[in-house]
Parts: sequence; structure tokens; C-alpha cells
Amino acid sequence: MSDRPPRLATLAVHGGRVPATGDPVVAPLVQSVNFVEPVGSAEGLRYPRYGNVPNAEQVQRRLAALEGAEAALVLGSGMGALACGMLALLRPGDHLLASEWIYGGARRLFAEEFPPLGIDVTLVDPTGSREWRRHLRRETRAMFLESPSNPACRVIDMGPLRRLASGQGLALVVDATFASPVNFRPLEHGADVVIHSATKYLNGHNDVLGGVVAGTASYVEEVRQKMMVWGQAPDPFACWLLERGLKTLDVRVERQNRNAMAIATWLAARADVATVHFAGLPAHPDHQVAKTQMAGFGGMLAFELAGGAAAAERLLKRFRLIRNAPSLGGVDTIVSEPRLTSHAHMTPAERAAAGIPDGFIRMSVGIEAVEDLIEDLEAGLR
Ligand SMILES: Cc1ncc(COP(=O)(O)O)c(C=O)c1O
Repeated sequence: MSDRPPRLATLAVHGGRVPATGDPVVAPLVQSVNFVEPVGSAEGLRYPRYGNVPNAEQVQRRLAALEGAEAALVLGSGMGALACGMLALLRPGDHLLASEWIYGGARRLFAEEFPPLGIDVTLVDPTGSREWRRHLRRETRAMFLESPSNPACRVIDMGPLRRLASGQGLALVVDATFASPVNFRPLEHGADVVIHSATKYLNGHNDVLGGVVAGTASYVEEVRQKMMVWGQAPDPFACWLLERGLKTLDVRVERQNRNAMAIATWLAARADVATVHFAGLPAHPDHQVAKTQMAGFGGMLAFELAGGAAAAERLLKRFRLIRNAPSLGGVDTIVSEPRLTSHAHMTPAERAAAGIPDGFIRMSVGIEAVEDLIEDLEAGLR
């Protein structure tokens, strides 16, 4: 092999592995939660809650390679990753600037859990740097955003935000769950920290709950310390499954990108579809940003029907192949209404202001034959 670092598809299969003759090709599952220690020493103490058991370490090395990060940590859920990742950056008295276009759980964490800890949070319109700059305070320590955002699939231009964060000495944190590292690697665009719900594309099979934080080794160590005391670590089996899922990340996401583009194009041509939210469409407001910032437009899209909320509910009831379920990023095509799932805690008016009116359908496109998916959509809409 050449000295050139392996490409992403290769890293997804082999990243972080130290090859040795006689090793099993598939990493063994070490489900033990207890490891024998030398008497009279605490050195090298292993425990799943510390994030240092064999299956955790293996998948963490692979994830760091995929993100181009010094280190990565796997946690018990995406929310665990968000909570520990942000608490490792913020202290009482600090201020967080966060995009208002974020997953409902992140919004709750910031708006309801952080203020009682003495961490003030301002939610801002994330497009351009003006709004961020306007709300900047002397106590501001970090900026947080999602790209693409849940559920409206807006792509945030990293250029102005990277310049603002580095100029002001702020940590720039990006949740790139909707993209996966195949489509978007925030560290290459000036982010300091990347966070994922590994429950979604990274695992990709709707059978693991997990989260990831990646960044510098010293920062990831701080997150690990939070994970240890807040108890947000994953089980070894979840790490094993996640590592297995990662091996097919590149082929899954490549197919999902293609399927989503075909479905978005098909939906956009229909009179009974009022709006399609997908940055791969040339008419989408984020198309140019997505084209330069992302390697692919992703497998997530959303649409609104001309018949509004009643038509949306009728359509969801008619699907035969596509299923109504809240999560995303797996091999199965899934639709959901954010008003009932990810953004249920917001009022209808708040959702409408955030661009998520009732009747808004979010679609996580899977790896099925796209013709079958379009037939299901067509039969449902007919
Ligand atoms: C963008 C984003 N970040 C984080 C999370 C939280 O992840 P988890 O459900 O694994 O805790 C989600 C869940 O839907 C999400 O969509």
C-alpha cells in the first residue's frame, strides 16, 4: 500500500485497527464489565463506564479516523454525547450561543437543564454571522449548531461562523448527525468539536443507541471524565454493534444520498406537494453552500403537502413499505411528523416560526430500491 492515508470507505472498515497475524478478522465481543487488576496498583484500570474497555477503544479509534480527529469517545446516546460534550466546555457563569434550528432534545437540554446550572443560553438564527455576533457576550464560551438541521435539513455555512469563533476564541461545536462523516466532516471546516447521535447513520440499522464526541485528545479526555461521573457510557455490545455498522457506512450513505436525490426530485415535480426541503435541489436556498461544504447532500429530506396536515396524516396511513417511526439514518425508509416526535414539546406557533408547520413530514431515506419507494409514495398520494 502507498503512504497516502486510507480513504474514508477504507477507514470505515479498518480505521484504528492494529493488524496482527492470528487476529480474528471480526473484533471479538468482550462483554465483561470487570477486568483483573495487578495487586497494589490502579494503573490501567478498565471499566465500561470509563470508556476504556476493548470494544469501546476499538470503535473510538475508528471514529476518530473517520472524523479526522485526534480522539473520539462513544457514549450511551446522542443526548449523552451532547450533555457531556457541552458540560466539558461550559462552567457556571458561561454563556452558550446555539442555533435555534436544532433537535428538540438538544433544545430542551440547553433551555431547561443548563440555566439551573448557571449556564445561560441564547438561541439564534444560524444563517450568517450577524445574529451570532449580535448576541455575543463577554461570558460567551461556545457556539453550537446542527448541519444539516433537524428536521428542516437546512445547511449552515461554516465559513462566517468559523471566522467568528476563531476571532473571539470560542469553541465551535457541530452536531453532524444528519450528514455522517461521509457527507460532512466539520473539523475540516473549522469546528473544534463534532458530535453525533450514533443511533442514526453511524450504526445505521436501528438497533443501537449511542453517541459520539470527537475533537482534540485533551478535550475528549474532559468529556470522558464527565461521562464517568454522569454515567453516560455505552455497553460493550453497543460498541461492537456500532463498529460492525460502521463497516458499511460509506456504501449505505452513498445509496441513501442517491435515493434521497431521486425522491426529492420526484416530489418537487408534483402539484400535490407544496414544498420539498432538500439542499440537493438547485432551487433550495442552501444548495450552493451544501455543494461546496458537503461531499453528498444526505439521505434526509422533508416535504409539505398542498393539502396540509390532514393530507399528511392520510398519506402516512396509506404507506405500505415506508413506515412511520421517529428515529432516522437507518437502512429502512422512515417518515415522521416532528410535531409528534422530535419537536413535540414546542407549541404549534413556535414550530411554525421555526419552519415546521403541522403537516410537515420528515423522511429518512433508506437503501431500498428507489423505484419501490417512489411507487409507495405515488400510491399513497393518489
Ligand atoms: C441531530 C440529533 N442530535 C442528537 C440526537 C439525540 O440522539 P439520541 O436519540 O441517540 O440520544 C438526535 C436524535 O434524534 C438528533 O436528531
